[in-house]
Amino acid sequence: MGLEGHPTATAPRREAPVADAVPGLPLPALRRGSAPALLTQADITAEIEAEHAVSAGLRARGLAVPATRNDFAPYRSSILRHPTKDPVQADPEAVELLAPVFGERDVHALEADLTATGAGEPVGERIVVTGRVVDGEGRPVRRQLVEVWQANAAGRYAHRRDQHPAPLDPNFTGVGRCLTDDDGTYRFTTIKPGPYPWNNHRNAWRPAHIHFSLFGTQFTQRLITQMYFPGDPLFALDPIYQSTTDPVDRELLVARYDHDVTQHEWCTGYRWDIVLTGTHRTRLEEPAEPGEEHA
Ligand SMILES: [Fe+2]
Repeated sequence: MGLEGHPTATAPRREAPVADAVPGLPLPALRRGSAPALLTQADITAEIEAEHAVSAGLRARGLAVPATRNDFAPYRSSILRHPTKDPVQADPEAVELLAPVFGERDVHALEADLTATGAGEPVGERIVVTGRVVDGEGRPVRRQLVEVWQANAAGRYAHRRDQHPAPLDPNFTGVGRCLTDDDGTYRFTTIKPGPYPWNNHRNAWRPAHIHFSLFGTQFTQRLITQMYFPGDPLFALDPIYQSTTDPVDRELLVARYDHDVTQHEWCTGYRWDIVLTGTHRTRLEEPAEPGEEHA
Protein backbone atom coordinates (compact mmCIF):
# COMPACT_ATOMS: atom_id res chain seq x y z
CA MET A 1 0.00 0.00 0.00
CA GLY A 2 1.04 3.53 -0.60
CA LEU A 3 1.74 6.37 1.72
CA GLU A 4 0.32 9.82 2.03
CA GLY A 5 1.57 13.09 3.37
CA HIS A 6 -0.48 15.38 5.52
CA PRO A 7 -1.81 18.46 3.81
CA THR A 8 -2.94 21.18 6.16
CA ALA A 9 -4.81 23.54 3.89
CA THR A 10 -7.16 23.44 0.93
CA ALA A 11 -8.14 25.84 -1.79
CA PRO A 12 -11.50 27.65 -1.44
CA ARG A 13 -14.69 25.72 -2.04
CA ARG A 14 -17.68 26.76 -4.10
CA GLU A 15 -20.01 29.02 -2.23
CA ALA A 16 -23.41 27.45 -2.95
CA PRO A 17 -25.15 25.32 -0.27
CA VAL A 18 -23.38 22.05 0.30
CA ALA A 19 -25.34 18.83 -0.03
CA ASP A 20 -24.37 17.32 3.29
CA ALA A 21 -25.77 20.40 5.06
CA VAL A 22 -29.21 20.08 3.47
CA PRO A 23 -31.72 18.46 5.82
CA GLY A 24 -34.02 15.75 4.58
CA LEU A 25 -31.88 14.62 1.68
CA PRO A 26 -31.05 10.92 1.38
CA LEU A 27 -27.65 9.86 2.58
CA PRO A 28 -25.62 7.84 0.11
CA ALA A 29 -27.05 4.38 -0.17
CA LEU A 30 -24.55 2.35 1.80
CA ARG A 31 -22.66 3.22 4.95
CA ARG A 32 -22.55 -0.16 6.52
CA GLY A 33 -18.80 -0.36 7.03
CA SER A 34 -18.55 -4.02 6.07
CA ALA A 35 -15.34 -5.89 6.69
CA PRO A 36 -13.10 -5.14 3.66
CA ALA A 37 -12.11 -8.76 3.12
CA LEU A 38 -15.75 -9.73 2.58
CA LEU A 39 -16.47 -7.00 0.10
CA THR A 40 -16.12 -7.70 -3.58
CA GLN A 41 -15.34 -5.29 -6.38
CA ALA A 42 -18.99 -5.63 -7.41
CA ASP A 43 -20.06 -4.40 -3.96
CA ILE A 44 -17.75 -1.40 -4.16
CA THR A 45 -18.70 -0.61 -7.75
CA ALA A 46 -22.38 -0.64 -6.76
CA GLU A 47 -21.63 1.73 -3.89
CA ILE A 48 -19.70 4.07 -6.19
CA GLU A 49 -22.63 4.15 -8.61
CA ALA A 50 -25.08 4.83 -5.77
CA GLU A 51 -22.95 7.68 -4.41
CA HIS A 52 -22.56 9.19 -7.86
CA ALA A 53 -26.31 8.99 -8.45
CA VAL A 54 -26.94 10.91 -5.24
CA SER A 55 -24.36 13.55 -6.17
CA ALA A 56 -25.72 13.89 -9.71
CA GLY A 57 -29.25 14.25 -8.36
CA LEU A 58 -28.20 17.04 -6.03
CA ARG A 59 -26.38 18.85 -8.80
CA ALA A 60 -29.48 18.53 -10.99
CA ARG A 61 -31.39 20.34 -8.26
CA GLY A 62 -28.89 23.17 -8.36
CA LEU A 63 -27.17 22.24 -5.13
CA ALA A 64 -23.42 22.34 -4.83
CA VAL A 65 -21.83 19.02 -4.03
CA PRO A 66 -18.29 18.86 -2.66
CA ALA A 67 -16.08 18.13 -5.61
CA THR A 68 -14.22 15.48 -3.69
CA ARG A 69 -16.14 13.63 -1.02
CA ASN A 70 -14.09 13.25 2.14
CA ASP A 71 -16.59 10.78 3.58
CA PHE A 72 -16.86 8.64 0.45
CA ALA A 73 -18.15 5.33 1.83
CA PRO A 74 -16.71 3.03 -0.89
CA TYR A 75 -13.29 4.35 0.15
CA ARG A 76 -13.57 2.63 3.52
CA SER A 77 -10.82 4.26 5.54
CA SER A 78 -12.10 7.74 4.64
CA ILE A 79 -15.15 7.15 6.84
CA LEU A 80 -13.22 6.90 10.08
CA ARG A 81 -10.60 9.53 9.45
CA HIS A 82 -12.15 12.29 7.37
CA PRO A 83 -12.26 15.68 9.10
CA THR A 84 -15.53 16.30 10.90
CA LYS A 85 -14.60 19.63 12.45
CA ASP A 86 -13.33 22.90 11.07
CA PRO A 87 -9.57 23.39 10.99
CA VAL A 88 -8.03 24.87 14.12
CA GLN A 89 -7.05 28.47 13.54
CA ALA A 90 -3.42 29.09 14.32
CA ASP A 91 -1.22 32.14 14.44
CA PRO A 92 0.70 31.82 11.17
CA GLU A 93 3.77 33.56 12.55
CA ALA A 94 3.90 31.24 15.55
CA VAL A 95 3.51 28.19 13.29
CA GLU A 96 6.41 29.37 11.17
CA LEU A 97 8.69 29.18 14.17
CA LEU A 98 8.07 25.44 14.49
CA ALA A 99 7.22 24.25 10.97
CA PRO A 100 9.67 22.76 8.48
CA VAL A 101 11.31 25.23 6.15
CA PHE A 102 13.57 24.89 3.14
CA GLY A 103 15.85 27.10 1.17
CA GLU A 104 15.87 27.17 -2.60
CA ARG A 105 19.52 26.19 -2.59
CA ASP A 106 18.58 23.05 -0.65
CA VAL A 107 16.84 21.67 -3.73
CA HIS A 108 19.31 20.16 -6.17
CA ALA A 109 18.47 19.81 -9.87
CA LEU A 110 19.27 16.09 -9.76
CA GLU A 111 16.39 15.52 -7.32
CA ALA A 112 13.99 15.97 -10.21
CA ASP A 113 15.40 12.87 -11.89
CA LEU A 114 14.06 9.82 -10.04
CA THR A 115 15.99 7.54 -12.39
CA ALA A 116 19.34 8.93 -11.22
CA THR A 117 19.34 7.99 -7.54
CA GLY A 118 20.78 4.48 -7.83
CA ALA A 119 23.97 2.93 -9.10
CA GLY A 120 22.16 1.84 -12.25
CA GLU A 121 19.02 2.43 -14.25
CA PRO A 122 15.70 1.48 -12.65
CA VAL A 123 13.52 -1.04 -14.44
CA GLY A 124 10.46 0.23 -16.26
CA GLU A 125 9.15 2.70 -18.78
CA ARG A 126 11.13 5.96 -18.56
CA ILE A 127 8.84 8.98 -18.67
CA VAL A 128 8.98 12.74 -18.27
CA VAL A 129 6.11 14.37 -16.39
CA THR A 130 5.88 18.13 -16.68
CA GLY A 131 3.31 20.86 -16.33
CA ARG A 132 2.58 24.25 -14.86
CA VAL A 133 1.39 25.26 -11.40
CA VAL A 134 -0.96 28.21 -11.93
CA ASP A 135 -3.65 30.12 -10.10
CA GLY A 136 -7.22 30.45 -11.33
CA GLU A 137 -6.23 33.26 -13.69
CA GLY A 138 -3.48 31.21 -15.30
CA ARG A 139 -0.71 33.13 -13.57
CA PRO A 140 2.39 31.05 -12.79
CA VAL A 141 3.14 30.03 -9.21
CA ARG A 142 6.90 30.53 -9.19
CA ARG A 143 9.54 28.92 -6.95
CA GLN A 144 7.02 26.42 -5.68
CA LEU A 145 8.42 23.30 -4.05
CA VAL A 146 6.84 20.32 -5.83
CA GLU A 147 7.43 16.92 -4.25
CA VAL A 148 6.44 13.56 -5.72
CA TRP A 149 6.36 9.99 -4.48
CA GLN A 150 5.29 6.84 -6.26
CA ALA A 151 5.50 3.08 -6.57
CA ASN A 152 8.06 1.47 -8.85
CA ALA A 153 7.26 -0.15 -12.20
CA ALA A 154 6.12 -3.30 -10.40
CA GLY A 155 3.69 -1.36 -8.22
CA ARG A 156 5.68 -1.45 -4.99
CA TYR A 157 6.75 1.39 -2.74
CA ALA A 158 10.22 1.40 -1.24
CA HIS A 159 8.79 1.50 2.26
CA ARG A 160 8.69 -1.09 5.04
CA ARG A 161 4.89 -0.85 5.29
CA ASP A 162 4.48 -2.01 1.69
CA GLN A 163 4.94 -5.78 1.81
CA HIS A 164 2.95 -6.94 -1.19
CA PRO A 165 4.80 -9.58 -3.21
CA ALA A 166 6.20 -7.46 -6.01
CA PRO A 167 9.93 -6.80 -6.45
CA LEU A 168 11.70 -3.79 -5.04
CA ASP A 169 14.03 -1.98 -7.42
CA PRO A 170 17.45 -1.21 -5.90
CA ASN A 171 17.80 1.67 -8.32
CA PHE A 172 14.51 3.39 -7.54
CA THR A 173 13.38 5.11 -4.35
CA GLY A 174 10.30 6.71 -5.93
CA VAL A 175 10.76 10.16 -4.39
CA GLY A 176 11.77 13.43 -6.00
CA ARG A 177 11.33 17.17 -5.80
CA CYS A 178 11.94 20.35 -7.73
CA LEU A 179 11.08 24.03 -7.76
CA THR A 180 8.83 25.56 -10.39
CA ASP A 181 10.55 28.02 -12.71
CA ASP A 182 9.52 31.54 -13.66
CA ASP A 183 6.75 30.13 -15.85
CA GLY A 184 5.43 27.95 -13.00
CA THR A 185 6.72 24.83 -14.76
CA TYR A 186 7.87 21.70 -12.96
CA ARG A 187 9.52 18.72 -14.64
CA PHE A 188 10.37 15.23 -13.45
CA THR A 189 12.10 12.29 -15.12
CA THR A 190 10.90 9.03 -13.63
CA ILE A 191 9.56 5.54 -14.28
CA LYS A 192 5.90 4.91 -15.00
CA PRO A 193 4.49 3.41 -11.78
CA GLY A 194 2.60 0.15 -11.78
CA PRO A 195 -0.85 -0.46 -10.26
CA TYR A 196 -0.84 -2.04 -6.81
CA PRO A 197 -3.25 -3.91 -4.52
CA TRP A 198 -4.64 -2.37 -1.34
CA ASN A 199 -6.94 -3.52 1.43
CA ASN A 200 -10.11 -1.58 0.73
CA HIS A 201 -11.88 -4.76 -0.42
CA ARG A 202 -11.06 -8.10 -1.96
CA ASN A 203 -9.01 -7.78 -5.17
CA ALA A 204 -8.79 -4.00 -4.87
CA TRP A 205 -6.17 -2.34 -7.12
CA ARG A 206 -5.17 1.29 -7.39
CA PRO A 207 -4.78 2.80 -10.86
CA ALA A 208 -1.19 3.86 -11.57
CA HIS A 209 -0.60 7.28 -10.02
CA ILE A 210 2.00 9.73 -8.77
CA HIS A 211 1.45 11.60 -5.50
CA PHE A 212 2.12 15.35 -5.68
CA SER A 213 2.72 17.78 -2.83
CA LEU A 214 2.85 21.55 -3.20
CA PHE A 215 4.54 23.09 -0.22
CA GLY A 216 3.34 26.70 -0.49
CA THR A 217 5.38 29.23 1.39
CA GLN A 218 5.08 27.39 4.70
CA PHE A 219 4.03 23.97 5.96
CA THR A 220 0.49 25.08 6.87
CA GLN A 221 -0.19 25.73 3.17
CA ARG A 222 0.83 22.32 1.93
CA LEU A 223 -1.51 20.75 -0.64
CA ILE A 224 -1.54 17.15 -1.82
CA THR A 225 -3.14 15.35 -4.74
CA GLN A 226 -2.60 12.44 -7.14
CA MET A 227 -1.90 12.41 -10.87
CA TYR A 228 -3.18 9.55 -13.02
CA PHE A 229 -2.32 8.25 -16.49
CA PRO A 230 -4.74 8.36 -19.42
CA GLY A 231 -6.85 5.36 -20.30
CA ASP A 232 -6.29 3.38 -17.11
CA PRO A 233 -8.73 0.43 -16.99
CA LEU A 234 -8.90 0.67 -13.18
CA PHE A 235 -10.46 4.15 -13.09
CA ALA A 236 -14.05 2.92 -12.90
CA LEU A 237 -13.21 0.50 -10.09
CA ASP A 238 -11.18 2.79 -7.83
CA PRO A 239 -13.06 4.42 -4.94
CA ILE A 240 -10.32 7.00 -4.37
CA TYR A 241 -10.40 8.26 -7.96
CA GLN A 242 -14.20 8.06 -7.90
CA SER A 243 -14.46 10.02 -4.63
CA THR A 244 -14.17 13.03 -6.93
CA THR A 245 -17.78 12.68 -8.01
CA ASP A 246 -17.88 15.13 -10.92
CA PRO A 247 -16.58 13.48 -14.13
CA VAL A 248 -15.13 16.78 -15.39
CA ASP A 249 -13.16 17.19 -12.17
CA ARG A 250 -11.95 13.58 -12.38
CA GLU A 251 -10.56 14.23 -15.86
CA LEU A 252 -8.50 17.08 -14.39
CA LEU A 253 -6.60 14.52 -12.32
CA VAL A 254 -5.45 12.66 -15.45
CA ALA A 255 -2.29 13.68 -17.29
CA ARG A 256 -2.33 13.72 -21.07
CA TYR A 257 0.22 12.09 -23.32
CA ASP A 258 2.25 14.81 -25.07
CA HIS A 259 4.40 13.79 -28.00
CA ASP A 260 6.26 17.10 -27.78
CA VAL A 261 7.47 16.06 -24.33
CA THR A 262 8.40 12.60 -25.59
CA GLN A 263 12.09 12.38 -26.52
CA HIS A 264 13.59 10.44 -29.39
CA GLU A 265 14.80 7.02 -28.27
CA TRP A 266 14.75 8.13 -24.63
CA CYS A 267 11.34 8.48 -22.96
CA THR A 268 7.65 9.13 -23.39
CA GLY A 269 6.15 12.34 -22.08
CA TYR A 270 3.10 13.43 -20.08
CA ARG A 271 1.78 16.87 -19.28
CA TRP A 272 -0.28 17.72 -16.22
CA ASP A 273 -1.09 21.22 -15.02
CA ILE A 274 -2.09 22.01 -11.45
CA VAL A 275 -4.63 24.80 -11.01
CA LEU A 276 -4.82 26.02 -7.42
CA THR A 277 -8.00 28.10 -7.46
CA GLY A 278 -11.17 28.71 -9.44
CA THR A 279 -13.75 26.37 -10.93
CA HIS A 280 -11.12 24.40 -12.87
CA ARG A 281 -8.81 23.88 -9.96
CA THR A 282 -7.17 20.51 -9.40
CA ARG A 283 -8.99 18.55 -6.72
CA LEU A 284 -6.90 18.13 -3.62
CA GLU A 285 -6.95 15.71 -0.74
CA GLU A 286 -8.03 16.65 2.75
CA PRO A 287 -5.65 16.41 5.68
CA ALA A 288 -5.04 12.98 7.16
CA GLU A 289 -4.32 12.40 10.80
CA PRO A 290 -0.61 12.29 11.62
CA GLY A 291 0.71 8.75 11.37
CA GLU A 292 -2.07 7.51 9.12
CA GLU A 293 -1.46 6.24 5.66
CA HIS A 294 -3.53 5.36 2.71
CA ALA A 295 -3.10 4.46 -0.86
FE1 LIG B 1 -0.16 5.62 -3.85
